[in-house]
Amino acid sequence: MTDAGARVALVTGANRGLGLETSRQLLAKGLRVVLTGRDEEALRRAAARLAPREDRVMTVPMDVTDAGSITRAQQAIEKRFGRVDVLVNNAAVLLSEHDDILTTPAENYRRTFDSNVFAVIEVCRVFAPEMARARYGRIVNVSSGAGQFATMSAYAPAYSMSKAALNALTRILAHTYPDSGVLINAVDPGWVRTDMGGPSAPRSPQEGADTIAWLATLPDHGPSGGFFRDRLTIECRRTIPHGRPRIWKETEHAKTQIGKQRSRGVGDRPWLYGTEHGIWSGYRQVRRHQADSGRFTIGASPSSTPPRRTASSTRNWSARRWRRLAIRW
Ligand SMILES: NC(=O)c1ccc[n+]([C@@H]2O[C@H](COP(=O)([O-])OP(=O)(O)OC[C@H]3O[C@@H](n4cnc5c(N)ncnc54)[C@H](OP(=O)(O)O)[C@@H]3O)[C@@H](O)[C@H]2O)c1
Repeated sequence: MTDAGARVALVTGANRGLGLETSRQLLAKGLRVVLTGRDEEALRRAAARLAPREDRVMTVPMDVTDAGSITRAQQAIEKRFGRVDVLVNNAAVLLSEHDDILTTPAENYRRTFDSNVFAVIEVCRVFAPEMARARYGRIVNVSSGAGQFATMSAYAPAYSMSKAALNALTRILAHTYPDSGVLINAVDPGWVRTDMGGPSAPRSPQEGADTIAWLATLPDHGPSGGFFRDRLTIECRRTIPHGRPRIWKETEHAKTQIGKQRSRGVGDRPWLYGTEHGIWSGYRQVRRHQADSGRFTIGASPSSTPPRRTASSTRNWSARRWRRLAIRW
């Protein structure tokens, strides 16, 4: 693909932290990147730090909580690059981190939901329909493990609730655009050394942004509606009564399987997809894609319908499928 035809990615909150690092990784993957943020000067400095060729990067002021500024940004991008193919909803705030659910001021709940949830809807309102018309789009909502029901604690109530809502938004939006070429997923980057994560976080921004950039460049027929960490799904709708969530255990198992596949040299981009429901979508997508091009390989072929579910049969069925669900291409 020539530069003029290269995909165009828009990253919100791109002046620092994970937004900036995601922009860097997308540029390295050959995309043209629009860095957006509230502070124009900070954006210019960020773009200069990326040191890209000028024709592949653009900075546009955009406050995600201001619908007018989103529309103005869209018009400016249309003039310069024509369209947006990839949208990374990264901008967010973390307020009242150390308050509990009842001492968090109402105003902080409002500001958090404005930035972390409602703003994402407004940005998608402007860019997603055009992606669907173009039959190509990737939307990555940068969420957090704090928004994962299975492991949710009393930590940062406004932030955690907003990220849980963002995960729901992701799933609903994915179901709003089925079979449209637009793949919409949420990602937990892990605990990362940024202004938000602080200096004690174990992950570098490079590690945190890896799955964001991966989801932003998924191939056609990749997963949609999922919640990922380290290129693996982490969505869990059900926990087992004792110990850690079952799905986590299974995911660790899957990593082992994937490691084995890697060491056998059968493809370097395996991925795992799904909850009980998602597994089936994943299988269907993969099976369809396999029929189309023969590029996917599945460890075991599933039966055409899942067995009738009771509490225990669901658990066993899910565990069996998880063990088989190492997919590679
Ligand atoms: N760091 C972690 O450990 C961690 C863990 C899990 C999830 N995440 C998620 O990762 C994403 C990026 O976090 P980060 O660690 O890079 O945070 P960060 O360093 O605090 O950066 C946040 C970015 O969001 C921007 N932003 C905030 N409100 C905005 C608004 N109304 N309009 C436009 N931009 C706005 C900020 O711009 P200004 O400079 O103008 O404020 C900044 O560029 C967030 O969604 C966060 O929830 C982070």
